[in-house]
Amino acid sequence: MDQPSTTQTPEPDLTSTQRDQEEESVHRALESYYRAGKPPWDTGVTPPELVALVEGHEAMPPGRALELGCGTGTNAIYLARHGWEVAAVDLIDRAVDQARKKAAAAGVAVRLLHGDATRLDELDVPGPFDLFFDLSCYCGVPLHRRDAYAAGLTHRAAPGARLLMFGYGPEPLGNPTPEVASWAAGVTADELRARFPGWELLDVTPGTNSVPTFWFTLGRDA
Ligand SMILES: C[S@@+](CC[C@H](N)C(=O)[O-])C[C@H]1O[C@@H](n2cnc3c(N)ncnc32)[C@H](O)[C@@H]1O
Repeated sequence: MDQPSTTQTPEPDLTSTQRDQEEESVHRALESYYRAGKPPWDTGVTPPELVALVEGHEAMPPGRALELGCGTGTNAIYLARHGWEVAAVDLIDRAVDQARKKAAAAGVAVRLLHGDATRLDELDVPGPFDLFFDLSCYCGVPLHRRDAYAAGLTHRAAPGARLLMFGYGPEPLGNPTPEVASWAAGVTADELRARFPGWELLDVTPGTNSVPTFWFTLGRDA
């Protein structure tokens, strides 16, 4: 994947004073993707793994969902269209602005929030949630913020809640943005088992990408 320039200074925002150097690097890199136009991941296509969970023969009944790293809102809007009560969070305000416009155009109600998935206590997302969805957000979160991410979800999980997560495996990008060290770490099944006590790793399915990727399904204890 081409890496955009990360030298532009991002607009200051409310949370910038709390971020450390690595988090600032992540923010700058993500901001520059959205500033440059349509990021490469913004396909507008809902992945079949989420469609199966929502519409498949063992579909979950609609409930409350929280999407972490929702980008421009494609999948939050999909969930809302299928009867879910959806809140969705993204770190980059431009992405959230676009998601709000898309949701308005689609005529669906989604609570779209600009904020940090590792600092959910700062947002009005008390839960409990039946479903958490993360398409390639957690695997880009700095390693030292991942326990906070897991704690935020655990705190808001309804008994038996599911977490469906797509992530890149270790060092998937070949030449990751050098100043964002954790992007080379990716995510592994062992890491999720360790960071999500009280959850069971129910399934790991390799993705179809040219680099190692995985779909993880975790279930919160009932
Ligand atoms: C690879 S993109 C995928 C976006 C979206 N899920 C999609 O598939 O179009 C990862 C998204 O996670 C967001 N993100 C990264 N770290 C985040 C954090 N700590 N809190 C909230 N969003 C975050 C990024 O801004 C970006 O929109």
